[in-house]
Amino acid sequence: MFARYKKPSGSTPAKKETPAKSAKPANAAAPAARVGTTAPNTSLRRPLPASSAKAAPQDRERKRKERLGEIKLDLHRALLDNLNLSALDTATESDLRAEISAIAAEVLEERSIVLNREERSTLTQELYDEVRGLGPLETLLKDDTVNDILVNGPHQIFIERDGKLELSDVTFKDEKHLLRIIDKIVSAVGRRVDESNPYVDARLLDGSRFNAMVPPVAVDGSLVSIRKFKKDKLGIDDLVSFGAFSEEMAAYLQAAVACRLNVIVSGGTGSGKTTTLNALSSFIDNAERILTIEDTAELQLQQIHVGRMESRPPNVEGKGEVSARDCLKNALRMRPDRIIVGETRGEEVIDMLQAMNTGHDGSMTTIHANNPRDGISRLENMVAMAGIEMPLKAVRSQIASAVNLIVQASRLQDGSRRMTSITEITGMEGEVISMQEIFRFQRVGLTPENKIIGHFTATGVRSNYSERFRLWGYDLPASIYEPVRPE
Ligand SMILES: Nc1ncnc2c1ncn2[C@@H]1O[C@H](COP(=O)(O)OP(=O)(O)OP(=O)(O)O)[C@@H](O)[C@H]1O
Ligand SMILES: [Mg+2]
Repeated sequence: MFARYKKPSGSTPAKKETPAKSAKPANAAAPAARVGTTAPNTSLRRPLPASSAKAAPQDRERKRKERLGEIKLDLHRALLDNLNLSALDTATESDLRAEISAIAAEVLEERSIVLNREERSTLTQELYDEVRGLGPLETLLKDDTVNDILVNGPHQIFIERDGKLELSDVTFKDEKHLLRIIDKIVSAVGRRVDESNPYVDARLLDGSRFNAMVPPVAVDGSLVSIRKFKKDKLGIDDLVSFGAFSEEMAAYLQAAVACRLNVIVSGGTGSGKTTTLNALSSFIDNAERILTIEDTAELQLQQIHVGRMESRPPNVEGKGEVSARDCLKNALRMRPDRIIVGETRGEEVIDMLQAMNTGHDGSMTTIHANNPRDGISRLENMVAMAGIEMPLKAVRSQIASAVNLIVQASRLQDGSRRMTSITEITGMEGEVISMQEIFRFQRVGLTPENKIIGHFTATGVRSNYSERFRLWGYDLPASIYEPVRPE
């Protein structure tokens, strides 16, 4: 049996781990949950919403899971002892599954453990995921409703669904197990993570963005963050139908992108910046040559003429780095019509502003900021950090002439993602950059379920670019600039 994938005789059996029972849970030292004192309900403040994390599973269910977890660990050891790991890469899925269930059946019989059919098939699937895939993460990666996976040590995995974080019932056996999966991911892309190199960025095979930080820098066990890659990125129509922005805003943005305004998408972490940038890019004409520069290639442009670049961190010897700035400088020699930088976070800001100012108009990027005004300050700070000795006024006027539009993406407190502002940069007034907001999301209240009530509205200010839009064939009706009247 297991002839094909069984280890050749004489090979060293896998090192036995400490028996599960004696293994101390990695979070054993974690402080017990704090018990808050209940304040008398006399204040005007709304009561805090109940935690969105699911309640701990029932005791019996938990015990059963623990038992299954231990059986799985035993079986996994048996698999490692019995499988010829080097032959696994070439094994077909069905062969490997057959092999795994045969080994599982044998071990279960040896230990007189009886499982029902469903348990047996879950077990085989989990073992398969351990051997071929990314263990417990595999089910979450396959679940299309999950956007983000956030691991806080082996026993706590949060997921983001519909904009809300919830505690999943998936766990790793222990820190060692978690580290093994992290190692599997990073070694597949030729990286290493250990005490001397405690954090790493990588990309999963399916394109998902992956970041891990391991102990001792990560105090209670390894921290992993995964932004799932969506095969079908949300398009303009999807975003309008999800209520991310209005039809009028979409029409304005179409004109802005098509008429080659330089656009910055500003927003907090996970607010939908990349999604917005990707959707905006759909308004670029097919005849244009677009170059994209990203730290992790996430954009999926639909045009035919696209050159994609991905910056590279230094390798373990500290060599071979190719920064976003390097890519950007090189891109300027590659005759681009437009340059799209996934995120501007450092010294590449100088080259980005220069590109926007010198004939590569229609360029786009994203920055981390909570509102358009902050976005401008971020740009100023980045210029200062890049070590450019320039008076503030000169920096500001560079920014004012480079950037035409700031689109603000926000994740609101109910988890919904909305474009909360579209703001034009109109120039300089003395030392200050002047701006005018054209559209915004107007909040009006909160439902009893804590859902935000609000609507998109124009501010009543007509775009500075309306003449340009008209000349380029995008004659937007004056009505789109009229504010929505409250009912
Ligand atoms: N309007 C929307 N409605 C529903 N889901 C959205 C919306 N916008 C973005 N998302 C989803 O939210 C997640 C985060 O989006 P995205 O990657 O665009 O954010 P980001 O601001 O670029 O994040 P980061 O700061 O980590 O780069 C993605 O899974 C995306 O599919
Ligand atoms: Mg992003």
